[in-house]
Amino acid sequence: MRRQLLDAGRYPRRDPPDGWRNRLIHGDLAAVLPALRREFKNKINVIYVDPPFDTGDVFSCKAMVGSGGDKTRAEGAAYEDRWGAEGGYLAWLRGMLEGLVELLHPRGSLFVHLDWRASHHARLLLDELLTPRAFRAEIIWRYRRWPTRTSNLQRMHDTILYYASGPDAAPVFHTLYEPLAPSTLRTFGTRKQRADFSSGERRSGMLAVESPGVPLSDVWDISIVAPSGKERVGYPTQKPEALLERILRVASDEGDLVLDCCCGSGTTLAVAERLGRRWVGCDVGGPAVQTTLRRLLSMPGLRPMSVQRVGEGGGGARGRLRAQLRAEGLEVEVKLLDYEGPGGKRGLGWLGAWAIDGLGGERFEADGWFGRPFRRAPLPGRAVLTFRRAGVYQVVLRAIDLLGNEAQWEGEIEVPGFRPGRAVMR
Ligand SMILES: C[S@@+](CC[C@H](N)C(=O)[O-])C[C@H]1O[C@@H](n2cnc3c(N)ncnc32)[C@H](O)[C@@H]1O
Repeated sequence: MRRQLLDAGRYPRRDPPDGWRNRLIHGDLAAVLPALRREFKNKINVIYVDPPFDTGDVFSCKAMVGSGGDKTRAEGAAYEDRWGAEGGYLAWLRGMLEGLVELLHPRGSLFVHLDWRASHHARLLLDELLTPRAFRAEIIWRYRRWPTRTSNLQRMHDTILYYASGPDAAPVFHTLYEPLAPSTLRTFGTRKQRADFSSGERRSGMLAVESPGVPLSDVWDISIVAPSGKERVGYPTQKPEALLERILRVASDEGDLVLDCCCGSGTTLAVAERLGRRWVGCDVGGPAVQTTLRRLLSMPGLRPMSVQRVGEGGGGARGRLRAQLRAEGLEVEVKLLDYEGPGGKRGLGWLGAWAIDGLGGERFEADGWFGRPFRRAPLPGRAVLTFRRAGVYQVVLRAIDLLGNEAQWEGEIEVPGFRPGRAVMR
């Protein structure tokens, strides 16, 4: 059976000592969540989900094709937020929440990110699924953006519902602190205060210890990702890393397992990676998987991960890739020559990431991914494989373009050198 692009994309090849690999899954959560249940029932420490909000919109993503002086702007659909018949969205939301609740660790936390359109529905659904006593907070994420022309109040916040796994659960919780208000600093300075009622009246006393700040409230002022900000990766509805950082710092410890089943541009996964949490992420869209993959590959010291597909959702090899293999001794040079995507989009400048896989003979699995950096250098189009033994090898290349279309190329090469052992890649 011919394997598809993302079936076995492991990065890097060697297994980590504890056997754990983070996972990026390309698939519809309707298929992914039941698949995860077999392995992760009651095991996920933090679930964050930022699903479509029922806006009725189609969102597009933007990318720069090519590199250096030869760059053009490309745009394609990222995802649709349209639900057809009345009630379609709510039924979908319920299905997703039911699937997520089953995965939650007994000391875990669930964060559901929505806005005025559906947060009230989600709250009722979660009260039903987890009981109202599992509710912990309604986080208001307040941001500033350009005002719109409206005869209503400006909408400048999203809502994140924060639940524990059940009514009697004691979820992991770390108090974070915000800086003291300027008025407090002016009046009391930076030392801790204690209210003293011994005289019958309230008097404040100053302690010798420095104050860590004000314990974090449920209203969070965090800027949206600016259009020209360093964090921006060209995906619509991308959330700021500062928001996810707070969530993960509040509700998880290092090594904990984090899930985002609508990962979009991969914000949750990138922050989890940076904070030393283990992660599983999924999205139904090729553009989301492509963006997330490149975002992760651009992180220094990326820990082992695998890229897989679950179900039939999205993708499939729709582009055509051309490459060349050249052997010298035990080394094989793999060189990408050309790419043609749907709609006649042509040139290696369209590729977002590619990986090497091998089939037959001395098989090696899909391996190091090469990702196009977001700003600077072009995508590396060449790699060298070193074999330990002469023979005839089949090499499979898998690629994903900047709009999420996939391509595959297969070739055979005779390696003339001689040394016993197995194939390795560098
Ligand atoms: C609001 S965006 C998430 C943005 C993300 N938090 C970020 O920071 O980039 C919602 C995502 O849900 C994904 N999505 C929609 N329906 C899905 C489904 N059935 N299964 C998996 N992902 C889905 C979309 O492709 C989209 O990327």
